[in-house]
Amino acid sequence: MSLIETLGLSVLLRMDPEVAHGLSIRALKTGLMPMPGPVSGSRLAVDLAGLKLPNPVGLAAGFDKNAEVVAPLMRAGFGFIEVGAATPRPQPGNPKPRLWRLTEDRAAINRFGFNNEGVGTLAARLARRPEGVPVGLNLGANKDSADRAADFALVLREAGPFVDFATVNVSSPNTERLRDLQGRDALAALLKGVIETRDGLPRRVPVFLKIAPDLTPAELEDIAEVARGSGIDAVIATNTTLSRDGLRSRFGNEAGGLSGAPLFERSTRVLARLSHLTQGQIPLIGVGGIGSAEQAYEKIRAGATAVQVYTAMVFEGLGLIPKIARGLDALLARDGFASVSEAVGTGREKWL
Ligand code: FNR
Repeated sequence: MSLIETLGLSVLLRMDPEVAHGLSIRALKTGLMPMPGPVSGSRLAVDLAGLKLPNPVGLAAGFDKNAEVVAPLMRAGFGFIEVGAATPRPQPGNPKPRLWRLTEDRAAINRFGFNNEGVGTLAARLARRPEGVPVGLNLGANKDSADRAADFALVLREAGPFVDFATVNVSSPNTERLRDLQGRDALAALLKGVIETRDGLPRRVPVFLKIAPDLTPAELEDIAEVARGSGIDAVIATNTTLSRDGLRSRFGNEAGGLSGAPLFERSTRVLARLSHLTQGQIPLIGVGGIGSAEQAYEKIRAGATAVQVYTAMVFEGLGLIPKIARGLDALLARDGFASVSEAVGTGREKWL
């Protein structure tokens, strides 16, 4: 990290977390921040459900909620980017404060509740983005919607022509009863509507499903079965957790979803179980608590074809991303893997 970045980060880490996040977005918008450009190489290149990624390290949903800084993020070293969540209509989200940094735990708690400018605005921005790494949209439902399942299809219909992939997010803990849509019948019906909408788009857009880390083994089995029969292209494991095990920070009891280091084990176990249940039939994306190349590698060895990062960047800055991608390349080389795909699932047993 350069001196300027280190200084900038230490200032941001003293501010209110949501204000600091807003400033980071503004700094990115200026286009003046030095960016490493794409990180790629023969070992790192990945085919994810037909998407060609220069490397498997992606940006998780929720950082660029309104698709405001896609162009600079494309040059930050990510192999792919997910923006959103977008809902059909704009909505303000929950009252502030709604984001906490748990510094001692290298974690965050948020209860944003899908604050966003609405799919119309996001779709217009996505339509104008430059060429670069694949960009996807996290689909959400309006809090006051009479038919939440229909919201996902509606957002996909409007933004689908302008994205490389879309994610059905039924795993955010911050919209009341949203997670109920992960149940077997509700999920099957929802995915049917989404896939029908996808099939009506001008070109094929891979659809991913993002799940919670707090599912019971039986619920996970149901999801694996529904996912296999539904026509979705990948599963993202996982979103934030409601668990508060082992936290030290004084903000540990705030309501919302916990992300960052304490989520790593729980989300990796869910990922490995899902990999075991689906036996490589559906590609998986591992997210939750990744803060180093070793942890990205661990997710891949647990069954992930690609990974995503968010909370660790709050503490380490964007420079963490090329560090993880290059470190991953070195770990693959060390262990004699010629590609990421060769390593996928080779360490799964340990997490079952
Ligand atoms: C998120 N996350 C998230 N996920 C999602 O599917 N839609 C969303 O809108 C958001 N919003 C959001 C906001 C904030 C402030 C955070 C910290 C997280 C969850 C995120 O994409 C990821 O799944 C988890 O944060 C776990 O990864 P990390 O943060 O431990 O790397």
